[in-house]
Formats: sequence, C-alpha cells, structure tokens
Amino acid sequence: MDKVRKTFDKWAQNGKAELMETEHEKNVLKFLQKIPFDKPFTFLDVGCGNGWVVRRISNEKKCRKSIGIDKSKKMIIQARKKSSNKKEEFIHTDIESMNYKGKFDFIFSMESLYYVDSVDIALKKIFRLLKPGGQFFCGIDFYTDNKATTKWANMMKIQMHLHSKKEWKVFFKNKGFTVNTRNIKDLENRKKWKREFGTLFIIGTKPVK
Ligand SMILES: C[S@@+](CC[C@H](N)C(=O)[O-])C[C@H]1O[C@@H](n2cnc3c(N)ncnc32)[C@H](O)[C@@H]1O
Repeated sequence: MDKVRKTFDKWAQNGKAELMETEHEKNVLKFLQKIPFDKPFTFLDVGCGNGWVVRRISNEKKCRKSIGIDKSKKMIIQARKKSSNKKEEFIHTDIESMNYKGKFDFIFSMESLYYVDSVDIALKKIFRLLKPGGQFFCGIDFYTDNKATTKWANMMKIQMHLHSKKEWKVFFKNKGFTVNTRNIKDLENRKKWKREFGTLFIIGTKPVK
C-alpha cells in the first residue's frame, strides 16, 4: 500500500489526527478569520485529516457545501463520525485522481500539498476545480526558509516535497494562478519555527477571463 496513506491511516487511529488539529488550529483560524465569507460559497479541503476545518467552515452562514477529501480511508471514517451538519461531505480520494463534476469558490489545504505524488498534477487539478475568481488557500509549515521544519523529512520517512516560498510561488504562477502570500506567526509559541517563520499561506486566485 502507498506509504503516505499507510502513515496517515495510523495517525487517524493513534490520536495524531487530533494532535494536528490542536497544532494547526491557531494559525489556520488566524488566517481564515480574515476571509469575509460574505457571499454564498462552496468549500473543499484537500487532505482534510479528521475534518476539523470542514466542520468549522460548514458553520459559516453563507456556506452551501463543505467537502473534505483525504487519501487515508481511516481519516475519512473519523471525519464522518464527527460530522453532524448536512452541508458536510467527506470523500475518500486523493486529489490527483479526484473525480468531481462541480466547481468550488474556495479550496483549502493545510500541511497536505507537499505529500502528494505530483505537485504539478495536484495544482492543475485544484485550478480546474475552482470557479473563475475562486481562491486556493494553501498552508505549509514545511518549507526551506523555515529551516527547523526541514528535518521532518528524516523523521517521517515518506515522500515530502521540500520547496522554498519562492519556488511554491512559481509553481502556482505556472498553473495560471495570481499569487499572494502571508506568513502567520505564533509569537508566544515555545517552538522557534512557529515564532520566527510560522505557517506560509500561499493564496492562489484563478483569474476571471
Ligand atoms: C499532515 S496531515 C494534515 C491534515 C489536516 N489538514 C490538518 O491540518 O489536521 C496531511 C493529510 O493529507 C492527506 N494526503 C496526503 N496526500 C494526499 C493526496 N494526494 N490527496 C489527498 N489527501 C492527501 C493525508 O492522508 C493526511 O491526512
């Protein structure tokens, strides 16, 4: 079986999915609270883990549909167990082979995009799944500039694409996105990498033609 899937199947069962939720929550919510969500919208979370972001977003008044996908079947089972809002849906698929007819206003991903088999195919798919004017919010802690996090690759022993902020911006631009970035830091955190560099959010907007 695919090593990434196997690792996260384990994480879904040993409490690490909830640990990720706690670890990522502060910076993600700080980022999301700046998004107005003031018009009816649809939302997709790529690599949703236990589904915590999908659940937060489905509580937004204007949310019409909040979907989470994950290549780990066990993560999807956990996410479905925790779900109680009819606007939520969880699909077991990887982003590269996701087969979905609709298009989204917002696509989100936290600490997931660098685990994919092909960043190129994943970004192409995400671009296609967005409506014109739609936005992709991609949160990453593991990037070259954030030196302390780069050692995670040795600890995880699975494929993890390590790139710099500059390189990520180029990948997005090459797929047709206009790109902005934000670094969200947690100044009170005891972990140096959270204080000094923090989470890199790459914001890709699909132009309206
Ligand atoms: C580090 S976890 C982050 C989970 C969640 N976003 C969070 O913040 O708690 C990465 C997740 O991405 C999923 N993933 C990895 N590659 C994927 C792919 N190609 N398509 C969909 N999900 C993927 C993994 O199974 C895992 O659940």
